[in-house]
Amino acid sequence: MTQDELKKAVAKAAANYVERTTPAGSIIGVGTGSTANFFIDALASLKVKYKGAVASSEATHKRLESHGIPVFDLNDVDNIPVYVDGADEIDAGLNMIKGGGGALTREKIVAAVAKTFVCICDGSKLVDTMGKFPLPVEVIPMARAHVARELVKLGGRPQERAGFVTDNGNLILDVHGLSITAPKELEAQINQITGVVTNGLFAMRPANLLLLGTAEGVTSIED
Ligand code: A5P
Repeated sequence: MTQDELKKAVAKAAANYVERTTPAGSIIGVGTGSTANFFIDALASLKVKYKGAVASSEATHKRLESHGIPVFDLNDVDNIPVYVDGADEIDAGLNMIKGGGGALTREKIVAAVAKTFVCICDGSKLVDTMGKFPLPVEVIPMARAHVARELVKLGGRPQERAGFVTDNGNLILDVHGLSITAPKELEAQINQITGVVTNGLFAMRPANLLLLGTAEGVTSIED
């Protein structure tokens, strides 16, 4: 199976999960990236059951709308039963690195509201220790140099993502060379640096369910 076929298979499994577990009339949280895009396509076929979605990025907003799925402002929504999104790395404790697509801040906000976070990944994303994938950090532009110096003190090698501006008008520093053995602590430490909007570690709010696409089929890990 190709990587795209694995992503499609987990996206379909997530749509089935939403269909099975989500009350009619719900608003679904939708992530960003290539796997989330397959999920949006699968979600479109369930249209009748749910009321609409909250998007974690402008790109996702557009794709949802292209399928005719109503998109709600998060401020108008009290309750999101499920949020479905991909990850760049995930460990057995369901901690994740996200933000390869630069949407980490909005993803973290929607995930904070959601009751259940379903992570959908192909098998290559499951790792023993996170950090091989450079950790994205969203930064207020005027704080770039300061934040970069602080990240070096934490043992990382930050690199500005060239020519990239987030949906919130900020920049991304991708931090190389980390071996993340204490994800919660590192998430908190980086968020304490003045000028950081947020970082791509999802350890304080990890996933609740991982649907993992492998050659043998979709397997799941629950918290
Ligand atoms: C977007 O900012 C990310 O958090 C994505 O969820 C992550 O990069 C996974 O993307 P793919 O599904 O494209 O691998």
